[in-house]
Amino acid sequence: MCGIIGILAKRPVVPLLMDALKRLEYRGYDSAGIATFEKGHLVRFRAEGKLVHLEEKLNNYSLDGKTGIGHTRWATHGAPIERNAHPHMSKQLAVVHNGIIENFAELRAELKKKGYVFNTDTDTEVVVHLVTDALVKGKTLIEAMQDSLPRLQGAFALALIFEGQEDLLIAARQGPPLVIGYGKGEMYIGSDAIALAPFTDRISYLEDGDWAVLTHKSATIYYSMGSKQVKREQTKSSRSAFLVSKGDHRYFMYKEILEQPEVVFHTLAHYLDFASGKVRLQKDSIDWSSVSCLVFACCGTAYYSTLVAKYWFENLAGLSVSNDVASEFRYRDPPLSVYQTLALFVSQSGETADTLACLRYCKRKGVQSGVVVNVSESTMAREANIVFPILAGPEIGVASTKAFTSQLAALASLALMAGKARGTISKKQERSFVMALAETPRYINQALKLEPSIEAVSRELIAAKSVLYLGRGTSYPIALEGALKLKELSYLHAEGYAAGELKHGPIALIDETMPVIVVAPYDRWFEKTVSNTQEVAARGGRIIFITDKKGAAAISVKTLATIVISEVPEIIAPIVYTICVQLIAYHTAVLLGTDVDQPRNLAKSVTVE
Ligand code: M6R
Repeated sequence: MCGIIGILAKRPVVPLLMDALKRLEYRGYDSAGIATFEKGHLVRFRAEGKLVHLEEKLNNYSLDGKTGIGHTRWATHGAPIERNAHPHMSKQLAVVHNGIIENFAELRAELKKKGYVFNTDTDTEVVVHLVTDALVKGKTLIEAMQDSLPRLQGAFALALIFEGQEDLLIAARQGPPLVIGYGKGEMYIGSDAIALAPFTDRISYLEDGDWAVLTHKSATIYYSMGSKQVKREQTKSSRSAFLVSKGDHRYFMYKEILEQPEVVFHTLAHYLDFASGKVRLQKDSIDWSSVSCLVFACCGTAYYSTLVAKYWFENLAGLSVSNDVASEFRYRDPPLSVYQTLALFVSQSGETADTLACLRYCKRKGVQSGVVVNVSESTMAREANIVFPILAGPEIGVASTKAFTSQLAALASLALMAGKARGTISKKQERSFVMALAETPRYINQALKLEPSIEAVSRELIAAKSVLYLGRGTSYPIALEGALKLKELSYLHAEGYAAGELKHGPIALIDETMPVIVVAPYDRWFEKTVSNTQEVAARGGRIIFITDKKGAAAISVKTLATIVISEVPEIIAPIVYTICVQLIAYHTAVLLGTDVDQPRNLAKSVTVE
């Protein structure tokens, strides 16, 4: 999603803006731009595509302005071309925006009638003319903002600088996050703390409805888009210590795949005590014995983690579980009992607009609401009744990898916690599950060692028109995740299916050109999965079978390739098998030469619906 940076510096600001924009690259973008001052006047530079194109333009200038704003754009309204790239400008101001101004058409028509000319296809340009209109009518800057902001509907984060005002930057938040950074004689505004990391670790988050007036030395914050001041707590950002570095790796995503043994261990160790073989009691946590119904609503990969969790919470804790994609849940107005219901929202970023809307919906209805979230300072983490951390560390690759396996690790632990509290698992079972989970990092490491044979499988996929992934039980969501990863990274069409659904439609697709990746540990679903694989073989499909030794020995059909993983306890199989589908997608993307870390059209943090 779009990234915003704004800086009031003591030094030339352009290198600082570019550094911050590089830190925001991970969010996904298709054009970029900056605005600053040159000899006291506003100037702007924009370029289509990656930041290097903007850098090339800037190399032709020596700019010494000390105040500026910058933006990476993820197109919503209007094509990803230079004309639509931010900042947008008038003679009076420059603005960058993340989100969607929902009433832009109405405002555009009104401003056009007043004679304003629109040069872009964006919704953002209405902000330029709206504020300009107030200024030309003689309003002060503050009055102009107070008049304009309440007129904007939708979700937006804004940063504005003004002609002739080098000691001023205005920011506003209604939806997508904005963080203020406090430096020594310098002030910053950014979409997240990562962008501000090299400058300061003293930050405060704007709340929804806040807007702020920043100078080099101060930040005055107003709330409800009005004129009443409010103080927002300053905190020390843990993410500021984080340096965006790929180490020796070519891609962040690859580094993040390799980090999984350590990261998953870290997550598990937060919830489980391996020494005693018990789940750790969480302070101020949920009384699982009073819960009978669990409601999940999330997006993308996080949604798939909850499809796996459904099996765990049903089997280990005897809970009734419903899963929804957040964009559907939020508009269905689902009836929810406030008694015995727990709503859980899983999110890496903690900012996904649809998931956040579901959290707010459930809170409004009085339903106990928790989040399983990676970014501890995110909006969801701040708004939920209960927070369960994922602890995967910053994930920069747009395609989620270590956050997914850590989500699974956290959810498996919570299911054990629920089972223990509800008396649906015995002490002996608790110990055996905890000790099985303790083995996860070791098995992930073994799966990572299969990389050469997995890369060979990827070579078989690059010429495919489409790829089918099949699985049953907890392997079904892993088939969905495998297909999603392949689509995201390699732009190949892929579908994940419950293996039992094959004959209800997708079997029509199978011919000698169709690769079918079957995720099939030797578990209670294995025999059934093999029967479905036979149906593929009978129609000439090119089978890639991911299984363990017992599974490899038992499968009776001819495969194009069989990837043999160590035999793992059933509870950790979805985590370990995920490594294979991640590596398949990664290597296919590398072979096809796509942008692994920032696949086209995707955003890391989806703050619009
Ligand atoms: O930050 P979240 O976990 O809420 O994000 C949800 C999805 O947008 C995300 O998982 C998306 O599907 C990823 N690109 C998957 O790789």
